[in-house]
Amino acid sequence: MKGFFITLEGPDGGGKTTQAKLLLEFLEEQGRPGLHTVEPGGTEIGRAIRALVLNPRWRQMASRTELLLMAADRAQHVAEVIRPALAAGQVVVCERYVDSSLAYQGYGLGEDLRLIDQANELAAGGLLPDLTIVLDVEPATALARTACRTQRDRIEGRGLEFQARVREGYQKLCAAFPERMHLISAEGDVKAVHRRIAELVASRIPGRG
Ligand SMILES: Nc1ncnc2c1ncn2[C@@H]1O[C@H](COP(=O)(O)OP(=O)(O)OP(=O)(O)O)[C@@H](O)[C@H]1O
Ligand SMILES: [Mg+2]
Repeated sequence: MKGFFITLEGPDGGGKTTQAKLLLEFLEEQGRPGLHTVEPGGTEIGRAIRALVLNPRWRQMASRTELLLMAADRAQHVAEVIRPALAAGQVVVCERYVDSSLAYQGYGLGEDLRLIDQANELAAGGLLPDLTIVLDVEPATALARTACRTQRDRIEGRGLEFQARVREGYQKLCAAFPERMHLISAEGDVKAVHRRIAELVASRIPGRG
């Protein structure tokens, strides 16, 4: 069986983790159990990189350093987790991937999008998702959903204007790659959002065998 690679994108607090879990349950019911993974931090090395790149202490971190640390996390993740799982025929559901680099370091921080494409190419070796779901939500709504978190990480703490640029970036990416990338409203309740995602995935994922 051929593997199938799904990525979930969107802001912090958009509901990626919530929806990834529901999608995995749905896939299991369909007889296609999958692997749930996340960037940054989908490997042991990646968790060390995550602790570094998201630490609010490093206020002086250059945007290009941030870009390269995310790429380093991705290179390890692709080599150690994603490619082997796809080769074994698994469905991989990954929170954040190449489009996060474009949305955050590109549209959010203003790094050159062509450089980010190159960093993504270096990290992922051309491995693109079969399907990318972008959870689209008002930045203020996403922020409110994570209000209970005691300390915001370095990227979460960038404020609503930054988050608005990231959102617009995702919208532009969806318009540019309509075959692979799909904008799904994440404004409604959890179940309604899940139904939209399940319908899209069911229409895209190849049958077994
Ligand atoms: N549709 C929704 N409506 C209301 N609350 C939601 C919805 N989806 C998720 N939440 C809640 O919002 C919070 C953040 O959701 P979740 O952790 O899934 O987001 P995330 O995108 O994975 O965030 P992060 O990027 O920070 O990991 C959780 O408390 C979750 O229960
Ligand atoms: Mg999450």
